[in-house]
Amino acid sequence: MPASLIILGLESSCDDTAAAVVRTQADGMPEILSSVVMGQAELHSDFGGVVPEIAARAHAEKLDHCVEQALLQAKTSLEAVDLIAVTAGPGLIGGVVSGVMCAKGLAQATGKPLYGVNHLAGHALTPRLTDYVPYPYLMLLVSGGHCQFLMVTGADSFRRLGGTIDDAPGEAFDKVARLIGLPQPGGPAIEMAASIGDPARFALPRPLLDRPGCDMSFSGLKTAVLRARDRLTAEKGGITRQDQADLAAGFQAAVVDVLAEKTRRAFADYPQDAPRTLCVAGGVAANKAIRTGLETVSAGENARFVAPPLALCTDNAAMIAYAAAEQSALRAPDDMTLSARPRWPLDTAQPAMLGSGKKGAKA
Ligand code: KG4
Ligand code: ZN
Repeated sequence: MPASLIILGLESSCDDTAAAVVRTQADGMPEILSSVVMGQAELHSDFGGVVPEIAARAHAEKLDHCVEQALLQAKTSLEAVDLIAVTAGPGLIGGVVSGVMCAKGLAQATGKPLYGVNHLAGHALTPRLTDYVPYPYLMLLVSGGHCQFLMVTGADSFRRLGGTIDDAPGEAFDKVARLIGLPQPGGPAIEMAASIGDPARFALPRPLLDRPGCDMSFSGLKTAVLRARDRLTAEKGGITRQDQADLAAGFQAAVVDVLAEKTRRAFADYPQDAPRTLCVAGGVAANKAIRTGLETVSAGENARFVAPPLALCTDNAAMIAYAAAEQSALRAPDDMTLSARPRWPLDTAQPAMLGSGKKGAKA
């Protein structure tokens, strides 16, 4: 990492408009000076998912305000910034374009270097921003739009060990919540209902555990919950609160089992003799049962377990600013030909993932 840097980061790849200012010291130690996130949940709530056109328009309207707020809260100015970083993909293309255009404008007007950052790299490098985790480490990214295991060996060096072949886990939590009459977002609603449920009442599948490797699938599990619900409805004309709780508990237990077992398998790829760390990021990492499951796996694998604070696990611009700081030591800035990419796999040596989450294309 070079001398002390002040980085302005922009993020607009999904339904959160965000700007942040991060400072890195000459020794590489980062500090978040501000992190502003303006969500759009209320704009999309009537549609049962993120509407890309609405998201893109809201990003275009909010980005300037976010940048102003981020600079103000950081008690700094655009003149003092050394780098301008922006999510250049993967994500909903209209939103990514809004961010890239805004960042290009700022870079052009100020003459500051511009860095286009991969959104997933931002998530994957967050444990270094929050907990100074050394390379290499194993990363599990679990959110509404992403699900993959990465071996992170450098700021621009990621090996994908596996990922979902259909739904992301957060997407599955949201869909199952809808199926059993719980509110959105489904994750917290299912977690709460599950706390009074019997996870053993319904025999739900643990998809792909019979197959080697770290790939996962959650859509069959969702269908199994649908069938169980339909059976109950056919028997007694509807489902009770207890049925709802038992279905939620059974579903959550299945997700925990799948993530835990696949994480155990991912450790098989850990470089020999390196200190072992498992990191998790994404909104689903808020789930206590999932955290406990991953903590147990880490303990069994003699690994440190790191879960950044939730505000930095979910979409934010501090992670984009920090990723640019690290990557600026490895490569030249981007120029005005930087383009927005709907898909952008971190590990180009692996075949592309199938499916696409409700919040944009998976990479
Ligand atoms: O990372 P995130 O805020 O947004 C993106 O997907 O980019 O993740 C949101 C997802 C939603 O699907 C939500 O249901 C899920 O994270 N989630 C949870 C919990 N809290 C949020 N899933 C399970 N348990 C939770 N407590
Ligand atoms: Zn994300």
